[in-house]
Amino acid sequence: MREADLTTAKDLLRFITCGSVDDGKSTLIGRLLHDGGLIHDDQLAALAADSARAGAKDGLKDFALLVDGLEAEREQGITIDVAHRLFATGRRAFIVADTPGHEQYTRNMATGASNAELAVILVDARKGVLVQTRRHTFICALLGIRHVVLAVNKIDLVGYGQDVFDSIVGDYLAFASALGFASIEPIPMSALHGDNLVARSPNTGWYRGRCLLDYLERVDIVSETTSRPFRFPVQWVNRPDQDFRGYAGTIASGAIAVGDKVVVAASGHLSRIQRIVTHDGDLARAAAGDAVTLLLDDEVDVGRGDMLARPTERPALADQFAATVIWMDREHLVPGRSYVLRLATQTASASVTAIKHRIDVNTRDHMAATTLELNEIGFCNFSTNRPLCFDAYTENRRTGAFILIDRYENRTVGAGMIAFPLRRASNIAWQKLTLAKQDRAGLKAQKACVVWFTGLSGAGKSTIANLVEQELFARGRHTMLLDGDNVRHGLNRDLGFTEADRVENIRRAGEVAKLMVDAGLIVLCSFISPYRAEREMIRGLVANDEFIEVHVDTPMQECARRDPKGLYAKAREGKIKNFTGLDAPYEIPQAPELRLSTLSEPAERLAAQVIRLLTDRGHL
Ligand code: ADX
Repeated sequence: MREADLTTAKDLLRFITCGSVDDGKSTLIGRLLHDGGLIHDDQLAALAADSARAGAKDGLKDFALLVDGLEAEREQGITIDVAHRLFATGRRAFIVADTPGHEQYTRNMATGASNAELAVILVDARKGVLVQTRRHTFICALLGIRHVVLAVNKIDLVGYGQDVFDSIVGDYLAFASALGFASIEPIPMSALHGDNLVARSPNTGWYRGRCLLDYLERVDIVSETTSRPFRFPVQWVNRPDQDFRGYAGTIASGAIAVGDKVVVAASGHLSRIQRIVTHDGDLARAAAGDAVTLLLDDEVDVGRGDMLARPTERPALADQFAATVIWMDREHLVPGRSYVLRLATQTASASVTAIKHRIDVNTRDHMAATTLELNEIGFCNFSTNRPLCFDAYTENRRTGAFILIDRYENRTVGAGMIAFPLRRASNIAWQKLTLAKQDRAGLKAQKACVVWFTGLSGAGKSTIANLVEQELFARGRHTMLLDGDNVRHGLNRDLGFTEADRVENIRRAGEVAKLMVDAGLIVLCSFISPYRAEREMIRGLVANDEFIEVHVDTPMQECARRDPKGLYAKAREGKIKNFTGLDAPYEIPQAPELRLSTLSEPAERLAAQVIRLLTDRGHL
């Protein structure tokens, strides 16, 4: 493969192949590389040997072996991950991702499709358009792929019949025309025999179109990113000395020239491009895909995550938006839970405020949903903790796409495509107050904080919190105690014990605790709060040293034995559902500021430990 060309080739086409296990995806790419003369001799020799070993008949090379690099795939005979292959012809460089076809691999397919410009959708000429053909096509459209090659493969097995081809194309266009692709190019082919791959085949004399390679080399994808509005997500501030302050990043779309006016999208600050600096010297103009350092005319406050745009073509700026989400995690999406959201170079905390509907990927029907499971796609409203700059995904795939990350374990759990900003909150600004929490706390001669007691029902949280509050009161401290049972009588009376309700319960309690910290109080909170994600979310609501997590560590058996409210007995009789520790989870804190073992010491001694910690941390 001429990989050397890849680094210099400006014109790069990324495409994916979609089809099921035996539609011949790998054979197609292998054959394309082989017939296109894009394989080294040593690779060819290895291929012949591999093929013989794999039992290919009649000296036919098994072209799939060229592509099926992954061990797992060789063993199971299916493509599990997204395997990328690079190759180049005289005209263009290509990166092809071979994506798996099964519905349970939707997330892998989406990963491959998210930065591809074109999809080769394989259909077996004997089978025609299948449910999965529709699914693949729909996901491609959703992920913003603009060009589709409908590869009607194994045309040799239907006698190279034009009628079969025409009827499949008719079926396909009947649903795909409505999906908004810029082009759909049907090509009859035999990947195994090489018909219409790198040259028009004499076996399909009736076919007047182009062969696959010819089409891939010529389809127009270049103009699309450069003709879009200029977007420059700032990756980092390059400041080697006092005289140089540049903003480094890669131009996501559009183009810019020295002297052009720009705006810092979030702050609205206007400036002009003074220099465009690269490794190889200054440029007068730069365009999408260029990695550059931009210098502005005046000293403005720009940092990582800011976005530069033209003043006349600004991105949206909002902290609420609607987006399509592909869920990629084994643990389902929980509305209300706070996830880390990354969009271009921006990072924020985000949660789903509503799931509008789930989309059946096979039929495209909209279904009601309260959650999204692995590989499911939904349309949701999002809320973020600060305004973000973005475009609709259909306008700009770079600035309209985001990923969601599990706050605790750092896994990517979802991928999103923004549909439109929601402007509900746009008339609400942050009111600046004269007094800060330090002032209010200072008057009370204390340092405000949240002491968050977590643990099983009956662990002793409330007992200890209550003792701590008495002691603080005796010392003349200003406190408040928020207790799960009590808060559930008022503010949270509408909430039960499902996962989503508990998430909302803790979110509200956390917001109230934060307000009380603003009021300068030492806030004691006693909630089971079974999920790490929410406890971490509250930690993030207040300042670093203002959150003290106290795990009231009582084993389940002991809680059940004490059973102060008789709830364990009821739960065991099946009279209470979703009971923590029985049929609902409790995620043990991994690094709490304090762990209190109620088995080894009485509550008074444990309360004293909390007081000591507060003293040590300077709160008293
Ligand atoms: S949390 O899980 O959402 O944090 P919270 O602390 O507010 O729970 O409320 C827990 C209290 O509700 C328990 O102490 C218990 O008295 C009561 N309760 C009622 N049903 C349940 C249940 N299914 N699981 C746990 N606690 C329950």
